[in-house]
Amino acid sequence: MWADLAPVGRDPDGGYRRFSWEGADTDARAWFVQEAKARGLDVRTDRNGNLWAWWGAPGPGAVATGSHLDSVPSGGAFDGPLGVVSALAAVDELRRRGVRPARPLALAVFVEEEGGRFGVPCLGSRLSTGEISPERALGLTDADGTTWAAAMERAGLDPAAAGADPATLGLLDVFVELHVEQGRALEDTPHPVGVGSSIWPHGRWRLDFTGRADHAGTTRLEDRSDPMLPFAHTILAAREMAAAHGARATVAKARVAPNGTNAIPSLVNAWLDARAADEAALEAVVAGVRGAAERAALEHGVGVAVTAESRTPLVAFTEGLRDRLGAVLAGDGPAVPVLPTGAGHDAGVLAAHVPTAMLYVRNPTGVSHSPHEWARPDDCHAGVAALADVLADLLTG
Ligand code: GLV
Ligand code: MN
Ligand code: MN
Ligand code: MN
Repeated sequence: MWADLAPVGRDPDGGYRRFSWEGADTDARAWFVQEAKARGLDVRTDRNGNLWAWWGAPGPGAVATGSHLDSVPSGGAFDGPLGVVSALAAVDELRRRGVRPARPLALAVFVEEEGGRFGVPCLGSRLSTGEISPERALGLTDADGTTWAAAMERAGLDPAAAGADPATLGLLDVFVELHVEQGRALEDTPHPVGVGSSIWPHGRWRLDFTGRADHAGTTRLEDRSDPMLPFAHTILAAREMAAAHGARATVAKARVAPNGTNAIPSLVNAWLDARAADEAALEAVVAGVRGAAERAALEHGVGVAVTAESRTPLVAFTEGLRDRLGAVLAGDGPAVPVLPTGAGHDAGVLAAHVPTAMLYVRNPTGVSHSPHEWARPDDCHAGVAALADVLADLLTG
């Protein structure tokens, strides 16, 4: 199964580019549909383009598991696909064990989890939960100006139907997402699998610096309105604010116009990704970066706007469920690690609406959002076994 999916969207350097609804993502989704159908599952596409494969007739009291197949630019093989492949493999394992589910099981593939193409992460789950309005989502654009509405339509979906989906989410009693660990806490333990405790509050802010294009050779320094200068100050301020608050702040995506070597830029658009252990620290980081951007823009005669594009509050996964998973995984052995994370997930969006838990599979280097992301095959198999244990407990308990 893994061997069939692995080449889909892989660049020559080993990184993945699976942007929602583009060719590779469409191929990966088709692969999932085929694998699910081969198992006799009933596959449905919901109003927002998320895929649901049902073992047992879709109905209330369902247990759900799954993840996503889209990637960041030059992403890793495991972030997302590991949870989807493990979900399918767990169905095989449950059948091999002769488990007879007392409730339906749904395997989910959420669309645009990374926000790699349209900017807002977890767009599929945010739409289904009503965390983002369809009006806003449909108008989001990719780098070429294609709207989410147009992309949906090209994928054969009806944009007018997009929006909150209580008819589907209302069927779920519980959602469990298995994911590659994005950090290396488990590597220092004997445990190949850990249980999620929480997700740091996080968000994305757009930074727009507006200056004036002019000649790089002839324009006196004091006559310039160069947006690159406050931008540079802002990047350094983000680093300083993050360090001061034990947080994370990253500027990793930027566009410069007109992007010529010998023209002072007229415009810099960039994105701040900020995350912290609590809401107050996150607010302090963002306020600090905003203040630094405004001061530097003023100093350099440049306009600036800082706009929140997406924001996810602190997520604490359902405690009783977390304890139940921990007990299933530990059996008679030692307690399994319980891990917080700074990474966002559809599970984090669903958590406010459905009892939700996460399992993490050990990542020996901790590297993620990179072609170097890795998990050992034995640990991936342990992840499938753990997911099957958990699902068996939830489906029959
Ligand atoms: C999703 O992977 C994120 O950016 O946290
Ligand atoms: Mn990711
Ligand atoms: Mn992911
Ligand atoms: Mn300066």
